[in-house]
Amino acid sequence: MAKWVRVASVEELKEQNPLLVVLDNEDVALYRVKDQYFATDDLCSHAEASLAEGDLKGYLIHCPRHGGQFDVRTGEAKHFPAYAPIRTYPVKVEGHDIFIDTERD
Ligand code: FES
Repeated sequence: MAKWVRVASVEELKEQNPLLVVLDNEDVALYRVKDQYFATDDLCSHAEASLAEGDLKGYLIHCPRHGGQFDVRTGEAKHFPAYAPIRTYPVKVEGHDIFIDTERD
């Protein structure tokens, strides 16, 4: 069952400028590409690094530590040294509020 949690307003999330959201059990990185919104685990799958501190270029988040890249739409690793995927979360926007589904596996 979905568990939607409001995590930010549309105004807080600037395009190409990821936002870290700290929830009870997980840190999530939010992304905006034009009028599309995405969410992934904040922690890089390669080592200890916050993806919200990385550079978003198109749909690819570039890890600030070693330059691994992930597709924010799917969580798929796209560039060495990252090879394991990261978790993605369903996102919806209602009015000016951004929600993520934290029950997604
Ligand atoms: S910590 Fe992200 S690529 Fe190494």
